[in-house]
Amino acid sequence: MLFSRKLHGQLAGLETPFYYYNLSLLQETLDSAKKAADKRGFHVHYALKANFNDRLLKSIQASGFGADCVSGNEVQKAIDMGFDAGKITFAGVGKSDKEIILALNHHIFAFNVESIQEMEVINELAGQLGVKANVSLRINPNVDAHTHHYITTGLDENKFGVPTSELERAASVIRNAAHVELIGLHFHVGSQITDMNVFKSLCVKVNEWKSWFEERGTVIKVLNVGGGLGVDYHHPDEQPIPDFDTYFDIFDKFLERGPHQEVHFELGRALVAQCGSLVSKVLYTKSGVKKHFLVLDAGMTELMRPALYQAYHKMERVGETEEPIVNYDVVGPICESSDCFGKEVPLPESKRGDLIAIRTAGAYGEVMASRYNLREEIRYVYSDTI
Ligand code: LLP
Repeated sequence: MLFSRKLHGQLAGLETPFYYYNLSLLQETLDSAKKAADKRGFHVHYALKANFNDRLLKSIQASGFGADCVSGNEVQKAIDMGFDAGKITFAGVGKSDKEIILALNHHIFAFNVESIQEMEVINELAGQLGVKANVSLRINPNVDAHTHHYITTGLDENKFGVPTSELERAASVIRNAAHVELIGLHFHVGSQITDMNVFKSLCVKVNEWKSWFEERGTVIKVLNVGGGLGVDYHHPDEQPIPDFDTYFDIFDKFLERGPHQEVHFELGRALVAQCGSLVSKVLYTKSGVKKHFLVLDAGMTELMRPALYQAYHKMERVGETEEPIVNYDVVGPICESSDCFGKEVPLPESKRGDLIAIRTAGAYGEVMASRYNLREEIRYVYSDTI
């Protein structure tokens, strides 16, 4: 149990709800990922979309990771936090002209280009600025990530990347584009992937399309295989650090790469999910005809994942307790029936004022918070400041 009696004492007086970030766990996770990647000569860009909290970004930057961005503001944020522009990638199906110009002016490592038209626009804007843009072509490989359909990205029906049927035309546009340089191929098939066979299937597709380009005389320097490594939401304490060695081993084994080919990753969730928890207070308890409810002061506005994806997050009472277990529907204060963190959740019998921690909330938690219902801005505390 992370939230021991001692931590309870430290958190008890703080205004709730807030995100609690365990910075030493974050550092251990980063060190483990970096070591496993370095051992194989792999490059890892941290996907800022998972969490762009300043303290987390500082640790990630200081640990030597690059940045993977999906908006001009994320590119700017990465630069402001000290990430080397030469290690920044910029992905996304809808980059605006303004965002492209910003990234061109920063001379980022590469644009991950998602359509032929986007390639043409980048070429035109780079020409106007008198620069050359490095691009990786995002290919939609039609690989099923076997994850929630909202976070599957590599199927024919998804909006991401260039379909393989369009590659011939894409290759010819690139050949004629004077202001872009194709440095690599980019893939990302989904998020929260726990079945390692998905990554094996991805490797097969990457090999296939890399050969396709090489047969046409195109030199591919960078193979960017995206992110997607899942975490264990059910056991945040047993093995909080993902098995990066097993994950990277798959690519080491199954990707065919030449001596000068670099392999790049864009990990978000696996680096930051376990270090964060949403701590909230029980406002009310009530029993309906069939149900016991715990009404928390945190809701879908602070952590949207359960409402949006029916995602599971383990919940626990902060501090040790002897009370009998009750099955609660744990809900928030927002005027939506989907504002529910879990149904029939076994928790020690609770009363007004008790603290409940919602675990594994470091990724896609704080960043997806909203002000719906004119909620207060989200608060956060770090393990080294309490
Ligand atoms: N690269 C690209 C192109 C992506 O679209 C994503 C995530 C990543 C990298 C990082 O993936 P990760 O390693 O974090 O799985 N809000 C959802 C997750 C959306 C993921 C979007 N793309 C959630 O809360 O589960």
